[in-house]
Amino acid sequence: MNTIRLATPADILGMQECNLRNLPENYQFKYYAYHAMTWPQLSYVAEDHKGRIVGYILAKMEEDPSDEPHGHVTSISVLRSYRRLGIAKKLMIQAQDAMATIYKAHYVSLHVRKSNRAAIGLYRDTLGFEVHELEKKYYADGEDAFAMRLRLNSPPS
Ligand SMILES: CC(C)(COP(=O)(O)OP(=O)(O)OC[C@H]1O[C@@H](n2cnc3c(N)ncnc32)[C@H](O)[C@@H]1OP(=O)(O)O)[C@@H](O)C(=O)NCCC(=O)NCCS
Repeated sequence: MNTIRLATPADILGMQECNLRNLPENYQFKYYAYHAMTWPQLSYVAEDHKGRIVGYILAKMEEDPSDEPHGHVTSISVLRSYRRLGIAKKLMIQAQDAMATIYKAHYVSLHVRKSNRAAIGLYRDTLGFEVHELEKKYYADGEDAFAMRLRLNSPPS
């Protein structure tokens, strides 16, 4: 049984470990801490029955005053043996709901490698994201990224 809960600063090492095992885009401890301290309601972890972190979502609000308020998924990852159980979908929905209700986000954005079939399946087919644009050579190794977006239904204020 896996539980989804809000991430706390005590989870950062576990999140970082989960990231290192899965993705080439790695972040320093202080980047996780920055997210956790600036937007404490937006990042979540999935833990197994022993309290080990098996997945996480690291998310934030974009602070460009010339654009609509919107959230951004910095990173999401689920350990290999816990995949296809709906964990990433739940993590995404928790973060999206918090962006809409707490920060009145109008939409959520993210980048995904053009070759990442699993993540594109999650974003486009399961959650309804659309490709906003193709960003050429976005990643350090030269791969292109799809910049994707999903409009959120903010509750009336
Ligand atoms: C992408 C990732 C987070 C998905 O995690 P997950 O917990 O396995 O995803 P879920 O179980 O919530 O899957 C939800 C839906 O996403 C899609 N999906 C997930 N994995 C998929 C795959 N390997 N191939 C195709 N579609 C896939 C499916 O539509 C799936 O629904 P279904 O199982 O009912 O068919 C996971 O594969 C991962 O951690 N990958 C490495 C890190 C990464 O690429 N992160 C994204 C960076 S942008």
